[in-house]
Amino acid sequence: MEELKMEKIVNYCKQYGFVFPGSDIYDGFANTWDFGPLGVELKNNVKRCWWKRFVQEDKDTYGVDAGILMNPRVWEASGHVASFSDPKMDCKKCKQRFRADNMIEEHSKGEVAAEGMTNEEMEKYIEDNHITCPHCGGFDWSEIKQFKLMFETSRGTVEGSKDTVYLRPETCQGEYVNFLNVQRTTRAKVPFAIAQIGKSFRNEITPGNFLFRTIEFEQMELQKFCKDSDSMDIYNNYKERALLFAKNIGLDEDKLRFHDHDKLAHYAKAACDIQYKFPIGWEELNGIHHRGTWDLSRHTEFSGKSLEYLDPETNEKYIPTVIEYSIGADRLTLALLCNSYEEQTLENGETREVMHFNPAIAPYKACVLPLIKKNHSEKALELFNMLSKYFMVSYDESGSIGKRYRRNDAVGTPFSITVDDETLNNNTVTIRDRDTMEQITLPVDEVVDYINKKIQF
Ligand code: GAP
Repeated sequence: MEELKMEKIVNYCKQYGFVFPGSDIYDGFANTWDFGPLGVELKNNVKRCWWKRFVQEDKDTYGVDAGILMNPRVWEASGHVASFSDPKMDCKKCKQRFRADNMIEEHSKGEVAAEGMTNEEMEKYIEDNHITCPHCGGFDWSEIKQFKLMFETSRGTVEGSKDTVYLRPETCQGEYVNFLNVQRTTRAKVPFAIAQIGKSFRNEITPGNFLFRTIEFEQMELQKFCKDSDSMDIYNNYKERALLFAKNIGLDEDKLRFHDHDKLAHYAKAACDIQYKFPIGWEELNGIHHRGTWDLSRHTEFSGKSLEYLDPETNEKYIPTVIEYSIGADRLTLALLCNSYEEQTLENGETREVMHFNPAIAPYKACVLPLIKKNHSEKALELFNMLSKYFMVSYDESGSIGKRYRRNDAVGTPFSITVDDETLNNNTVTIRDRDTMEQITLPVDEVVDYINKKIQF
C-alpha cells in the first residue's frame, strides 16, 4: 500500500470539514488550525474517551479545570521562566527560522544528542558538517540564540503599571497548585491522581507538521501523587495503561512503541514516551514521567505553603512523589486520523475512501438516509429527531444511495440507516456497517440499543 503523506491528510481534513487552516481567509496564521464541524466532534470524543478511562473509571482520580493564566510565580517555581527555551537560528538567505538542535539530530540521524550542547558547540557542529538550510539550500546562518517558548501578555493592575503574565505552556501546574485543595475536599488518600484537559500555548519553531506541533494545543494530563517507595510500580503501571488506551482508542499496535529516555532531569528517576509512526516518522505521542518530589517541593518553596501530606495511618509527613502521564489531544487526534484513513479497492474494482474510526470517536455515529426523498423523508426525519436525543446523527437525502454511503464512509460514520417502504409498512430499517458494508434489518425501536452497544468505549 502507498505510504500516507501528511499533505494528503491535511487536504482531506480541509475538504471534509475536520480541520481548516487558522485564520484561513487571511491566508492563514502559521502553525494554527481550526477544528471544523467534524473535527470538533472527533476531538471532543477523543477527550471524552480519555476522561472516561483515566478519571471516570478510576476511583482515585479527580478532575480539575484550572486557569490558563496563573500567578507568574508559578512559572518561576516550575523553572519555565529561567529555562523554557529552544535554540533557534535564522537562514539569512530565505529568512526561515529553525531549531538548531533538531537540525543536528536530523542530520546525524539521531546519533548526536544536541540537548546537552552549548550554542557555540551547536554552531561548530553545523559549520563542520556543512548543514544547509532545508528550505532554500543556503549556508548562511545567523548566530544561535535561545528563543523563549512561553507567550507573554501583561496585566495592568494600577494605571500605567503592567505585570507580565504568561499563557500556560502546560496544564499540569494547575494540578500541582491544587494538590491540597483537592486532597482536602475529596479526603483522598495517597496514592491519588489529579487530571485535567485544557489549552496550552508554546511559541514553537516548527517546520509545520499540521497538528503535530502547534502554538496552541490541548493537553490531557494526569499527576499521580504517591509514596516514593511505590513510585516505580505506579510509573510502570501508567506506561502499560497509556499503551493500552492508545490501542483501545484505535491506533495499530505495530505503529506504537515505548521510547525510554537515556537522559533524565536531575530530579527524575525515569521517563518514557510512547511513540507513534506518523507519516513524518516515529514521533512522541505522549510522555510518562517520574518527577520525584520536584514539583511539590518547588511550589512549597516559592509559595511558602507546605504541600506535605500527612498519612492518617502512620502519622508520617512527606512530600509525595509525582508520576505524570501527559498526552496532546490534537496530536492524538492527528494520529487517529492518519491511522484510520484508507483508500480501499473493492471486489468490483471500485475504490472508496474510508475512515475506520473506532465508533466511540466517530464524529457522527449514524446517518439517516431516506431511500426516496419524496416518499421517505418524513419518516426519516422522525427517526433523526429520535436518534439525535442519544448521539450525534447526520441526515442526508441528496444523491443516489451509493453516493451517500460513500460520503458516510469518507467521514467515518459507522452506521448508515436507510428508511424505505419496509419502514413505512413494518417499522424496520436497514443498517449498513461502514467497514464490512454488510446490511442488517432491525425494528426501529431497537436501533438506539444496537448503536449504543457499538459505541461503548
Ligand atoms: N507537563 C509535561 C509536558 O507538558 P511535554 O512532553 O512537553 O510534557 C506533553 O508535552 C504532550 O503534549 C506531548 O507528548 C504531546 O502529545 C503534546 N504536545 C506538546 N507540545 C505540543 C505542541 N506544540 N503541539 C501539539 N501537541 C503538543
